[in-house]
Amino acid sequence: MFSKIFSAAVVGLDAEMVEVEADTGGGEHGFFTVVGLPDKAVTEARERVRSAIKNSSFDFPRVKVTVNLAPAYLPKHGPAFDLPIAVSILRKNGYLDEKINLNDFVFTGELALNGDLRPITGALSIALCAQQAGKTCLFLPEENAAEAKLAREIKVIPLKNLLQLILHLRGEIAIPEQPYRDPELYNIPIEFDMQHVKGQEHIKRAMEIAAAGGHNLLMFGPPGSGKTMLAKTFPSILPDLSFAEALEVTKIYSVSGKLREKNGLVKSRPFRAPHHTASSAALVGGGAVPTPGEISLAHRGVLFLDEFAEFPRPVLEAMRQPLEDGVITVSRAAGHLEFPAKFILIASMNPCPCGYYGDRGRNCSCSAIQIQNYRKKISGPILDRIDMHLEVPRVEFKKLAEEIPAENSAAIRERVTKARAIQAERFKNDKFIANAEMSSEKVRQCCALNDEAKKLIAAAVSSLNLSARAYFRILKLARTIADLEEKREISPTHLAEALQYREKSSLDK
Ligand SMILES: Nc1ncnc2c1ncn2[C@@H]1O[C@H](COP(=O)(O)OP(=O)(O)OP(=O)(O)O)[C@@H](O)[C@H]1O
Ligand SMILES: [Mg+2]
Repeated sequence: MFSKIFSAAVVGLDAEMVEVEADTGGGEHGFFTVVGLPDKAVTEARERVRSAIKNSSFDFPRVKVTVNLAPAYLPKHGPAFDLPIAVSILRKNGYLDEKINLNDFVFTGELALNGDLRPITGALSIALCAQQAGKTCLFLPEENAAEAKLAREIKVIPLKNLLQLILHLRGEIAIPEQPYRDPELYNIPIEFDMQHVKGQEHIKRAMEIAAAGGHNLLMFGPPGSGKTMLAKTFPSILPDLSFAEALEVTKIYSVSGKLREKNGLVKSRPFRAPHHTASSAALVGGGAVPTPGEISLAHRGVLFLDEFAEFPRPVLEAMRQPLEDGVITVSRAAGHLEFPAKFILIASMNPCPCGYYGDRGRNCSCSAIQIQNYRKKISGPILDRIDMHLEVPRVEFKKLAEEIPAENSAAIRERVTKARAIQAERFKNDKFIANAEMSSEKVRQCCALNDEAKKLIAAAVSSLNLSARAYFRILKLARTIADLEEKREISPTHLAEALQYREKSSLDK
């Protein structure tokens, strides 16, 4: 008889159960094969498993060893199969009695040559998958235990090494299970508080609206006008992540190997600011083993693209689908994978190559052609997906020298949080979280206009040649502005403010 135990393979953002079978005999001494679509890291497991077993004071079988990872069609990456392979071999070799029932257990972890366990990626996805499959207990490296326990129901046993696990399974020692602790969620990076930004009230107002409804925003203005500074203060006015959102974000960071939080949960909203030299794959995700890109790492948070016009056009174009759908589909030979990418885009750029076009104090030295070429770097479809276009002028010295403190982020955040609560009530039976995510049908239901407002939008659509997308986006923006005022009805004033963010951009043309 061969032995069979359970593990899980991370595919995209989720995991699927994998059976790890081990058989011995029927071949030459020392021959050890792993079959079932394993990649190089899994195949290399042979060397690590052999040493780890020997160095944990067990004997490695002196006959041919065959390990099968099933189902074979499922791609299996990374070294997390070391532990289940070792356990399966030890079981087959008689170190774990047949009477010990392992059917309800799941094992995952990378082995060091001395038998110690090393952390893996995707622990939360594996725990959720095991839980859903009805398994009762997950054994994994201790560094991943807090993260895995976020799945809540499943028992999680943190491991230091292979020997300890075998002794525990035999009942010779008892490893305490990982306790569940309700995590606190928080948000504020204090050094970037909005009160430190002098003047620029209209930008702060726009940022408040963007934060309240999840709308995209583009700032353009001369060098040193505070665009980058303003963008960095943006996370401080965003509402806290809900636990469900935090779990989604944690899964993304975990499978990308970027989870740094001690207790396993990403608590604050992500703020990603990739440089303009980043490749398309780095931005939207991909690679031989598809991993989430910056837009997914910014999920439920902010993607800040500074010097927007410096990003190569194909890189920006790759963002068209995710900006519309909130997910990115990565196609690979093995099939399609989807990563979530619902983020608020904050972009900033100068109005021309020298930076001073339209500045009140300095003359622009660019030719008309230069300005045109600079602006053409950003395509119409991308600009159409940005709800708010804002001119950021240089702050006058008088304002800069002012001693009166500006409103702090906490006060703004309170209003944003209130507006989000109204949206949560509105979407309690839907999958949306913020107004910007509404479908056209939902817009029709929730953004009814009175006659006066209808006339206003009709005039705007014809005079500004607005696209259907722009029309719906304006309505969503107006909805958010009304929510901030806690008004049920969208008034012409709300609509006019929403329109002004779109029409005034000279970059549109
Ligand atoms: N409104 C403001 N209040 C306080 N300080 C400001 C303000 N605007 C700019 N500053 C100061 O000027 C510095 C430069 O601003 P920032 O880097 O944000 O400009 P920018 O608009 O991004 O310029 P560039 O187009 O060159 O990237 C900030 O670090 C900050 O110290
Ligand atoms: Mg800047």
